Amino acid sequence: MKKIFLSALAAAMILAVMTGSSFAEGNYWDKWQKTISLDMFPDCGINVLGAGGDDILQATVDIYCGVKPGGYVGYVNPKVIDIYKKKGKKYPDGKTAVLVFKKIGAAFTTDHKDGQPIYDVVAIKDGKSIASKEAGHPLNPATCAKCHVGFNDICKKLGYLCGNRM
Ligand code: HEC
Repeated sequence: MKKIFLSALAAAMILAVMTGSSFAEGNYWDKWQKTISLDMFPDCGINVLGAGGDDILQATVDIYCGVKPGGYVGYVNPKVIDIYKKKGKKYPDGKTAVLVFKKIGAAFTTDHKDGQPIYDVVAIKDGKSIASKEAGHPLNPATCAKCHVGFNDICKKLGYLCGNRM
């Protein structure tokens, strides 16, 4: 009797672990609001200015074309979507936005801490950081900041987000 109880308990525990792991799949932004998107990232050498792009988008294309990242979809945390829509300058601490590149299995992430942006690149499959530490590398958070913080203050005045600039 005791033995049956124990094996039933073990089975229940295994089941709990299995369902637990299936619930754990997915990413924190899955239910966030979609914002910007691009079906296909332009190849190197493509001029996007004629197609309605601006200087900062051209710079972005020039930096990431070599990565061949495919299309992207942007998401903004519903907690801050009103700030985004109103082109606000100040975001609260926490997770702010992501730009998901499905083809290469990577997501660019923007968080805020004390009004400052924190950039990272994570693997979609497990959420672990795959950012580069190499100076000047396109996936180095310093490269993200150089553009989001530095590029003619375009994104800086939008709380370091870029997708709501137009
Ligand atoms: C050369 C400029 C440039 C660099 C470098 C750059 N970005 Fe961006 N980023 C942009 C632009 C421009 C957009 C908006 C694209 C659009 O309008 O379709 C954007 C959009 C985003 C978004 C969507 C949310 C938002 O800001 O609207 C995130 C998240 C993001 N970038 C994070 C990153 C991260 C992380 C890196 C570094 C790994 C990075 N970016 C590197 C210019 C850049």
